[in-house]
Amino acid sequence: MVKNRIRLGVNIDHIATIKTNRKTSYPSLVDAVSIAEKNGADLITVHLREDRRHIQDQDLIEIKEKANLLNLEMALTSEMVNICLQVSPAFCCIVPEKRKELTTEGGLDIKGMNDDKFNFLIESIQNIQSKNIGVSLFIDPDPDQIDCCIQAGVKVVELHTGSYAESQSEQKRKYELNRLISAAEHASQNKIRVHAGHGLNLSNLSEICKIPQIEELNIGHAIIADSIFKGFEKSVQDFRSAINND
Ligand code: PXP
Repeated sequence: MVKNRIRLGVNIDHIATIKTNRKTSYPSLVDAVSIAEKNGADLITVHLREDRRHIQDQDLIEIKEKANLLNLEMALTSEMVNICLQVSPAFCCIVPEKRKELTTEGGLDIKGMNDDKFNFLIESIQNIQSKNIGVSLFIDPDPDQIDCCIQAGVKVVELHTGSYAESQSEQKRKYELNRLISAAEHASQNKIRVHAGHGLNLSNLSEICKIPQIEELNIGHAIIADSIFKGFEKSVQDFRSAINND
């Protein structure tokens, strides 16, 4: 299998966290978009959370105007589906959301959805796709969840790399890496395209980049954390070249 260049989605939520926490007009998210794009971001990713803890509705509108390609992460609610249809990002990634979580914990449990929820998922996917917005579902690397994604009608999944990234032992890391490898193979065999993200940093990225089916990585926390010491431009550049090298 010929390995394509992996796209880098730079998630700028944590820049919005600084702005929102102090209710200031800075740091500018629009500037963040252009700096990220100039330094290697293929797309800009933001998560409009139901509690609006970082990105605000107006931020989303301004980011959409500025970004070449916007990927909107959002929960599966009527409010978010309507916002997605109005804002019309290039891509939308449906994620699970819990009010008290620090960040997105685990993937969408599509297998565990009741009929009403699953039907709402199918209807939402159809509505979003009908506006030419690409839809992905953020799931754990589990073949059963991939089969449910196929039934739901998406062509793309984003595999949750959190358990791999947070592995505390070599044995667990290998186990989680193998789950990602198998899930990516299973998706690809069923003509489902594969993205990945969560918890990725410069130390744990290289094994993920070797998985041939992965076409896109979405990375936020580590890029913004590294930028505190080395600057945002350099941080995006370093992630871009770390991805290119594998
Ligand atoms: N992908 C998805 C679907 C996410 O929800 C997140 C976190 O917002 C990420 C990727 C990026 O995770 P991190 O901030 O740990 O790099």
